[in-house]
Amino acid sequence: MQHSFIAELAAPGRKVPVRACDLESSPVFLLPSIGEYPVYDDVAYETMIKDERRMGAYAEAVRRYAPGRTVLDIGTGKDAVWALAAARAGARHVWAVEVIPKSAQIAQETIAEAGFADRITVVEGLSTEIELPEPVDMCVSEIIGTLGGSEGAGSVLRDARKRLVKPGGVFIPHRSVTTAVALDLGAAGRGEPLGFPPLVFRYVEEVFASVGRPFDLRVVLEGLQDNPKIQERSYLSGPVEVEPLEFNGDLDPEGTDSAELTFTGEGNFSGLALGMRLWAAEDDEPIDSLVQSSSWTPVYAPLAEEGLPVRPGDRFEFDFTTTLSDDGVHPDYALNGELHRAGGPPVPLSWSSTHQGDGFRANPFYRSLFPGPEGP
Ligand SMILES: C[S@@+](CC[C@H](N)C(=O)[O-])C[C@H]1O[C@@H](n2cnc3c(N)ncnc32)[C@H](O)[C@@H]1O
Repeated sequence: MQHSFIAELAAPGRKVPVRACDLESSPVFLLPSIGEYPVYDDVAYETMIKDERRMGAYAEAVRRYAPGRTVLDIGTGKDAVWALAAARAGARHVWAVEVIPKSAQIAQETIAEAGFADRITVVEGLSTEIELPEPVDMCVSEIIGTLGGSEGAGSVLRDARKRLVKPGGVFIPHRSVTTAVALDLGAAGRGEPLGFPPLVFRYVEEVFASVGRPFDLRVVLEGLQDNPKIQERSYLSGPVEVEPLEFNGDLDPEGTDSAELTFTGEGNFSGLALGMRLWAAEDDEPIDSLVQSSSWTPVYAPLAEEGLPVRPGDRFEFDFTTTLSDDGVHPDYALNGELHRAGGPPVPLSWSSTHQGDGFRANPFYRSLFPGPEGP
C-alpha cells in the first residue's frame, strides 16, 4: 500500500501545499525535471557520474574521436569528465565551458589536480556567448534533457556548429529523439495519487525560485524503468519518436512532428510517458529512457486524469510542437491530439509545457500534486 500525504514547500513570497510520498511504500513516485534550470548540485552531478549507461556510451565515443583533435566540451560540470577524458585520450587542446560559476571553479581545480591545466582551458559562461581563438575539430556535450531537447541541446549545438566548430567537425552525441508511449497512470501507481519524496522538495523550490513563481513544472515518473512488470501494466502502446535532433547534420530546434500511437493493451488512458533515446555515436545502440534506468527518467504528460477506457486497436493521433521559449534556448512544448476509439466520436486531448511556466494547477493532475485553487 502506497501512502501520500500533504506537506508544504516554499515558493517565491508564499508557501505551497504539495503532495508528498513515502519512498519506502511507493514503487512509483514523482521527481521534478531539473536539468533545464540552473539548479545542479553535487547530488545531481553524482547521479550522472554513477549512471553507467551514460558514462560508458560517452567514454567510448570520446576515446574514439578525441585523439589528435581540438575539443570543445559544452557544460563540463564540476567534474570536467569529458574534458579530462578527451585530454587523456590524446586531444590536442580542450576548451571546457561551464555556465554555473561554482561548477566552473571546481572543474578548474579538478583539472589542475589531474595535471591537465596546460591542455584544458576552462571558460566560465554560456557557450552561446563565448568566443574561441579558433574553431575546434570536435564538440562533446551532455545537455540532453528528460525530453531530448528540453535542456536546449538543439539551439546550443546549432550555435556551436555555426560559430565554434570547424565545418565537418564531429559532435558527440550524434543524435537524440523524444519518445512517447500511452500510459495508464492509475495502473502505474496502483490507483494512489503520486507525490514527491520530501528529499526533492528543495529542487522544486529552486525551480520555482528560478522562474519567480510556482507553476506546473515538468515531472518525471521514477520506478517504471528496468521494471517490465510495471511497464506491462502501465504502458498501453508501443513507443513513437518525435523531436529528432541530428547533431552531426541539419539541426532545427523548432518544428512539429505528427505521430500515431496504437493501443496494444486494455486500460485507462490518462496521458503519455515522454522519454528520450540518445545515440552517443552513430553506430551505438541508443540509451532508451522509457525502458532502461539511467539518469534520464520519463516525463508524465497528463491528458485525461480520470482515464479514458481504451482497447487494443484504438489510436491516439497527435502533433508534437517544439518552439523556443523567450530565452531562445529552452523549448516550450505543445501536444494536440485526438483519441479514436472503436465506435465512438474522436476525443480531443492536449498538453502544453512551457519553460517559464504558463499555468499553476491547470489540470486535475497538478491540482492533486499542489492541492489548492487553480490560478497564478
Ligand atoms: C547534464 S550536466 C553534464 C555535466 C558533465 N558534462 C557530465 O556529462 O557529467 C550539464 C551541464 O551543462 C551546463 N550547461 C548547460 N548548457 C550550457 C551552455 N550553453 N554553456 C555552458 N554550460 C552549459 C550546466 O550548467 C551543467 O553543468
